[in-house]
Amino acid sequence: MNKTKDSSRRNFIKTLAASTAAVAAGTHVLAAEDKSAHFKILKKHPISVNDNVNIALIGTGGMGTQDTITALTVPGTKLVAVCDLYDGRLQEAKTRWGKDIFTTRSYKEILNRKDVDAVIIATPDHWHQQISIDAMKAGKHVYCEKPMVHSILEGPAVIQAQKETGKIFQVGSQGVSSLGNEKAKELLKQGAIGDLNYAEGFWARHSPTGAWQYPIPADASPANVDWETFISNTTKRPFDATRFFRWRNYLDYGTAMSGDLFVHLFSSLHFITNSFGPNKVYASGGLRYWKDGREVPDVLLGTFDYPQSQAHPAFNLSLRCNFVDGTSGTTYLKLVGSEGSMDVTWESVVVKRNKTIASDDPFYIEQMKKAGTPVSDRKRILPPEEYKFEAEKDYLGGPYDHFVNFFTAIRKGGKVVEDAIFGYRAAAPALLCNDSYNNDTAILWNPEKMQLIKK
Ligand SMILES: NC(=O)c1ccc[n+]([C@@H]2O[C@H](COP(=O)([O-])OP(=O)(O)OC[C@H]3O[C@@H](n4cnc5c(N)ncnc54)[C@H](O)[C@@H]3O)[C@@H](O)[C@H]2O)c1
Repeated sequence: MNKTKDSSRRNFIKTLAASTAAVAAGTHVLAAEDKSAHFKILKKHPISVNDNVNIALIGTGGMGTQDTITALTVPGTKLVAVCDLYDGRLQEAKTRWGKDIFTTRSYKEILNRKDVDAVIIATPDHWHQQISIDAMKAGKHVYCEKPMVHSILEGPAVIQAQKETGKIFQVGSQGVSSLGNEKAKELLKQGAIGDLNYAEGFWARHSPTGAWQYPIPADASPANVDWETFISNTTKRPFDATRFFRWRNYLDYGTAMSGDLFVHLFSSLHFITNSFGPNKVYASGGLRYWKDGREVPDVLLGTFDYPQSQAHPAFNLSLRCNFVDGTSGTTYLKLVGSEGSMDVTWESVVVKRNKTIASDDPFYIEQMKKAGTPVSDRKRILPPEEYKFEAEKDYLGGPYDHFVNFFTAIRKGGKVVEDAIFGYRAAAPALLCNDSYNNDTAILWNPEKMQLIKK
């Protein structure tokens, strides 16, 4: 591993040396894949008579709508049906995509349709597992929103269904397909920050919608909301519009800050490092401000121990989320190594590297004297400390690339970047983080075997 790393490090330095002009400007352009290549692939491998991948949307809320808009910008896709449990969303879908779109409250009606090749599942988290498995068994390819499952116990059955059916299954942490994540992976491999020893991520929000206090439609009632189906796989309760429209705040349906947000960082981190995940999870936090009846904290801290693996040295991860953050608006993922650090977004990577030790540093001089090495007091030219890699202007973004990855796999029978095993390995530490918080205890996990370890 060391030998490869050393030569990788030389690669990084060589790559930088070869682009002196760009270094001087402080910015590198991320190499974008040729988008026309994707288009050619789509054209070469038609899977249905009309040369489209026909898609249907299950869960026509905020993200499902956004996913579908993105999916439809990929050449060769067509929306044929949508499903939701609130009639208002079905009406909105007809207004947006045309009156010919088939609409239903029942996802099984969608799965029974012969003209549907693939489904996007963007329901609340407690429906992901059941609908994913039913969809694959009905012969549909699946793009399922993150987190892949609602509880740690649900993952293996999705992995099994994907294996048995051979259907393409992609989880929706779209950042992993972005140029920013790809570049970070490449830079880490080249030794840009030395040996990884620490990573951190953070979300800061300070608004009602940021804290999941979404508007509740004025007309919401048992007549236009299928509440009985919504709760049919969980605790029985009388109709409650707040629970239906603000489901993230309740444990029966959502997966709290960790399942909603940390999971994105696990996905990106695992993609960049080729990691299987942590073996120890510990969380703490509290409900500090949004005391609206929610069952989840609004400040959450998670620490995660990553064991040494074939792909990376042992390192620690610290994740934080604050919905009452006075500074607000900050989200980041940072990887720190023995020689520098990387700030990673979907569109950019900023590498900061240690300065070469200056010859006037007293500690350095003392050490050199002790070693009998002459020290020149002439100042040297120091290498640049910061390199910014940025996506080209008009880059279509991670969400687009993630759908291209999905549709290309469908047409070519290839692999996706975020399959069920990857999705489960990203969801597991997020879900265990909640379990740790709720039970006030550290949890041990075998990331390779994807199994809980009894203490
Ligand atoms: N990848 C991302 O960046 C991202 C961002 C936001 C949300 N998400 C994920 O997308 C999913 C949806 O989140 P959202 O913000 O769009 O929520 P939302 O409340 O806006 O939408 C969910 C929709 O699902 C419908 N629904 C509920 N149960 C259903 C069922 N059994 N069958 C059919 N429809 C059902 C609801 O009526 C609602 O319209 C969640 O899993 C969330 O974690 C991902």
